[in-house]
Amino acid sequence: MRRMLIAGNWKMQQDHKSALEAAEQLRDMTSDSELLICPDFLALPEMSRILRGSQVKLGAQDVWTEDRGAFTGEVSAQDLKKFCEYVIVGHSERRIKNHENNELLSKKIVNSLKNSLKIILCVGETLEQRDSKKAEEVIKEELEVCLDGLTSEQMEDVTIAYEPIWAIGTGKTATPKQAEDMHRSIRKIISAMFDENVAQSTRILYGGSVKPENAKDILENEDVDGVLIGGASLKPESFRQIASHSHGQ
Ligand code: PGA
Repeated sequence: MRRMLIAGNWKMQQDHKSALEAAEQLRDMTSDSELLICPDFLALPEMSRILRGSQVKLGAQDVWTEDRGAFTGEVSAQDLKKFCEYVIVGHSERRIKNHENNELLSKKIVNSLKNSLKIILCVGETLEQRDSKKAEEVIKEELEVCLDGLTSEQMEDVTIAYEPIWAIGTGKTATPKQAEDMHRSIRKIISAMFDENVAQSTRILYGGSVKPENAKDILENEDVDGVLIGGASLKPESFRQIASHSHGQ
């Protein structure tokens, strides 16, 4: 059975004080689904203190490939692990704005798993790729390279987030059918790479302009196991409303 995951990606959208205030407001939140917030690196230590004992877990928005060394500006999985349980890898903003490719992401994933961090791997196509019917091909390559060499056991700690790039921060959401269709394709790709058991137990989230108003329709789909929320996760109340449409399993 796949337990739903309702995850918020706060990006670099708020200052430190607002992040801590939002954490205070989220502390007593409960749900049948797993709850996760990914603030910026700086907020993690203080938020982990605020959320101790809370159902709301923490994740980082990125990680580096090595544990230690001359890597100016980077943060290691070994250190992140002290403050959070998850890490987002391969968000399209990092793929595009920071030029991260699948090979780099694969290294980040391997090293994070070695450090017992759980992964949320983002995949997704541009509008141009969708219009030219290349969406599935792009996502297949992202999955095949990023998950290359992982064992079935390691896949237990990997969640996929399908985030069509044209739907992120644009107010345009994939229709529930578009999301369901792509989630099924992703499951097929995972089945071919590993086996049907791994495909059936891997969680696949949808992300891209998820809001309280559209969460129910998205979360109703059989192959949608939760959501990765950007803008609408910044307000604790709207994060709560979205989670209220989830149903645990
Ligand atoms: P959005 O962002 O919900 O603001 O579209 C989603 C994401 O980038 O994960």
